[in-house]
Amino acid sequence: MNIRKIHATAAVTAFLLIASFWISTVISEIFLSHQAVWIVKKVIVFAVFLLIAAMAITGATGFKMAGKSQNTAIVAKRRRMPMIAANGLLILLPCAFFLYSKALSGQFDGVFYAIQVVELVAGATNLFLMFKSMQDAKNIRKK
Ligand code: HEM
Repeated sequence: MNIRKIHATAAVTAFLLIASFWISTVISEIFLSHQAVWIVKKVIVFAVFLLIAAMAITGATGFKMAGKSQNTAIVAKRRRMPMIAANGLLILLPCAFFLYSKALSGQFDGVFYAIQVVELVAGATNLFLMFKSMQDAKNIRKK
């Protein structure tokens, strides 16, 4: 597998992980029991480490391929990556642990739902930024 394939595989894996966290969170909290919500939170706490690994591989391979390129699409991707990483490590990761511990002790209170909204917004933001980076990848190939 060449570096571009590794990059694309890690990028798509990270995107699908966030998308599945997002969808299973919304479905469980709107339609299912508190126990189901707790199970979803637990799976996310474990799978979030897979997400961090996929993101790290995406970033490392992306920066390596890009080198010092000043191509507009590459510059945009390079600028977006720290925002994606910060969003993940500073918001998504602590939220995942906090929400899991609240769900574990059955505290589905106002704080739980407030933090849940923060997590969903940060998740959607990362999905958007990653979608933009996938679109930019198409522009790099054309040139
Ligand atoms: C989470 C963020 C990112 C996502 C979702 C993403 C996604 C993708 C995808 C889907 C491809 C296409 C690979 C293929 O055609 O097989 C690609 C290619 C590429 N990406 Fe990223 N990428 C991300 C971050 C980065 C970063 C931070 C850089 C470095 C500035 C970067 C640089 C590149 C380069 C140079 C290519 C090769 C384009 C080519 O020659 O075809 N990417 N990326």
